[in-house]
Amino acid sequence: MRLTFLGHAVLLISDIEGKYNVIIDPFITGNPAYPKDFQLPKIDYIMVTHGHGDHLGDTVELCKKYNSTVISNFEICNYLQLKGCKIHPMHVGGVYYFEFGKVKLTPAIHGSGIHEGDKVLYGGNPCGFLIKVEGKNIYHAGDTGLTKEFELLKDIDVAFLPIGGNFVMDVEDALVALEMIKPKIVVPIHYNTWDIIKADEQKFKEGAEKLGIKCVILKPGESLEI
Ligand code: NI
Ligand code: MN
Repeated sequence: MRLTFLGHAVLLISDIEGKYNVIIDPFITGNPAYPKDFQLPKIDYIMVTHGHGDHLGDTVELCKKYNSTVISNFEICNYLQLKGCKIHPMHVGGVYYFEFGKVKLTPAIHGSGIHEGDKVLYGGNPCGFLIKVEGKNIYHAGDTGLTKEFELLKDIDVAFLPIGGNFVMDVEDALVALEMIKPKIVVPIHYNTWDIIKADEQKFKEGAEKLGIKCVILKPGESLEI
């Protein structure tokens, strides 16, 4: 499969033969890190980790364009259903087998309010996604602080971890997380989109390599094939 990083926390998971395309946290409009010339394929599933605008992003627009199904927590799914999206609600700890693979929602230490006009709507619990596709375990942590929950993750092939600090783990905490998760490959996300989440990805890479973990830094638009 091909894992394409599209800036901030946006991840596109595609089967190389074009059988499926799954996007996580599709923040496209207003995302300064989104690769402008990227040609997004037809999206089958949209996975949303939490209700913040930089993750919910263009979910409604993509659903309408591609008739995609949204996988998220129950509250976000109910909100999106009212906007006309096709939904598959789940919750933290729950597992479901989709046509593209197995999905489990993992805990994240964060918020999930949905900002709409002058209101903040309740967005349930934030989550990460543990996805088993083509026999490989992919972990997208979502927005989260450091937590011992990471110790429960096993046999991760590729982990996408936030390193930008302020709202999520910084480099130092992400390295502690990495020691717990011990993935084969780690890819840093959720940094340098704005100055408030500035981080030194090279420092993270050096730290990861000291732990014997391969770190791949993907620029927005770049992919990893596994
Ligand atoms: Ni957030
Ligand atoms: Mn965020």
